[in-house]
Amino acid sequence: MANNEIIHDILIVGAGLAGTWAALAAGRAGVADIGVLSKLHPLRSHSGAAQGGIAAALNNVRPVEGTGKRGPLEPIPPGEEPVDSWELHMFDTIKGSDWLGDQDAIEILVKDAPEIIYEYEHMGCVFSRLADGRIAQRRFGGHSAPRANYSADYTGHVLLHTIHEQALRHGVKFYPEWYCLDLIIEDNICRGVVALDILHGEIYTMRARAVMFGTGGYGRAWKITSNATANTGDGVALAYKAGVPLMDMEFVQFHPTGLYGKGILMSEACRGEGGYLRNSEGDRFMEKYAPGLMELAPRDLVSRSEQTEIETGLGTGQDQQGIDLDLTHLGEEKIMTRLPQVRELALEFLGIDIIKQPVPIQPTAHYSMGGIPAKASGQVIANGEGTAVTGFYAAGECACISVHGANRLGTNSLLDASVFGRRAGIHMAEFVKNGARLYPVSGDPAALSRERLAQFTSSSGSGRVESIGKLANELKETMTRNCGVFRDQQRLQTALSVVQSLQERFKRARIMDTSKRFNTDLLAAIETDNLLIFSRVIVESALNRTESRGAHYRTDFPRRHDEQWLKHTLAHNSADGSPVLGYKSVNIDWEKYPPQERKY
Ligand code: FUM
Repeated sequence: MANNEIIHDILIVGAGLAGTWAALAAGRAGVADIGVLSKLHPLRSHSGAAQGGIAAALNNVRPVEGTGKRGPLEPIPPGEEPVDSWELHMFDTIKGSDWLGDQDAIEILVKDAPEIIYEYEHMGCVFSRLADGRIAQRRFGGHSAPRANYSADYTGHVLLHTIHEQALRHGVKFYPEWYCLDLIIEDNICRGVVALDILHGEIYTMRARAVMFGTGGYGRAWKITSNATANTGDGVALAYKAGVPLMDMEFVQFHPTGLYGKGILMSEACRGEGGYLRNSEGDRFMEKYAPGLMELAPRDLVSRSEQTEIETGLGTGQDQQGIDLDLTHLGEEKIMTRLPQVRELALEFLGIDIIKQPVPIQPTAHYSMGGIPAKASGQVIANGEGTAVTGFYAAGECACISVHGANRLGTNSLLDASVFGRRAGIHMAEFVKNGARLYPVSGDPAALSRERLAQFTSSSGSGRVESIGKLANELKETMTRNCGVFRDQQRLQTALSVVQSLQERFKRARIMDTSKRFNTDLLAAIETDNLLIFSRVIVESALNRTESRGAHYRTDFPRRHDEQWLKHTLAHNSADGSPVLGYKSVNIDWEKYPPQERKY
């Protein structure tokens, strides 16, 4: 290991489902030298926090006849008519995306879905089962058939464990608790990354023939979020800094059921299993907003409905900023077998037993539909014309392929990460086996990173020293207040000036801890820099989009405006740090799936 340099054929950053699937697929395709970097222990990656299910039209269950859209389900006897298909799954996903999803990519997603579930099954994944042994399925919001395949409410956890052990079996080398500091792209060719070994405090240049980001989402820019502390959008910020544009960043999903005051996920499976949402008068208010699907409308619609109830004084919880999630009618047995984690979380964090009593919830920042623009092969694109960045791939939540458009349907994220992680791994393997070069890097990128980090402990500079924690909290405060479920010009302008001033103040941010090993203050400083970088892109993209579509709801422009806005945003970095916004067309099959009004 000369000059702190590490070399692999394939280097993957992020060990969640997308990254690990890519590593496994490339390993299976014959690439022996694969490294996977993870800022956490790989099994603590945030894919493991997904609870309710992974979508695929398996046709194992159907609604009992005559019981309506929310009635009980029964197994479909072998040989009887299916109720679901990839075409239905595709339409639901397009409609859920408010027609901003790219339909060619969505077709791949839904067609690959059954096969990926059976792959998991053959690897030994412990899915919940029907009495006859088939995989159990439940309903989820915006899906017109019960197609959420699940393991109680631990689905992400079991998928991640299944795939991780397979990657180990294929000899993938994991670097647990290594943090990616920089992405090296020169002349539109990706050459590697700079990474910090957190435990030892050493910095390395890591080069590879192909590099992939599966670095997850960025909910940590908001105060109330279902995201783990690690979800600081590092990959997205690093790609942007390295010259890659970011796509559709204004589309951030607020999950309707985050535990009140904490944001912790109370799975949508609660409503899939029959749970109700009630306002302070005990009314199931979804009747007003989505009479057809009620609590199982898509997330953007349910979150807006909740927020409207709260803002009209019908909220619940200690300061009336919540809504009651009522599961008491489901009964102990159903809750203990299908929703045991949700029960435990409500008990642990609010002292409420959901078997006996409703639990207050509120919308919580949950998922980023936008991110690093990529093709279905995982190849990252550099511009609106679709030019690929040689040797750079992305998949999972950090990527925007774009299968979720303006609003993702629940259970499509574990599917997205699995399908496109696997595809990226297969493509990278081909790329490497076809003779991809190991490109040199100019200068000493690791030394540049070292200098940048040294600035956080340096005593030089003038003006008041700023605290990282304070800057991060101010960011979260403004994003929650001004760039949340409801947005408008004034609030977004406020958010923008706050983010700009925080970026100025960040130049004077210093940390007290100068130690080398496991310096968590240093990590927080870098993460906060990343939060500020991509938050600016989110806010400017949201300001510019003067319409409402999916999760981006402008109270001053409450309608979708296809003539002007049926297009993806592409934000490019500029020399002064402000995003330059461009746009890119949406891939639509105008014959089969032309845009329609979105009603539920
Ligand atoms: O609600 C949930 O269980 C989350 C699933 C998802 O985001 O897909």
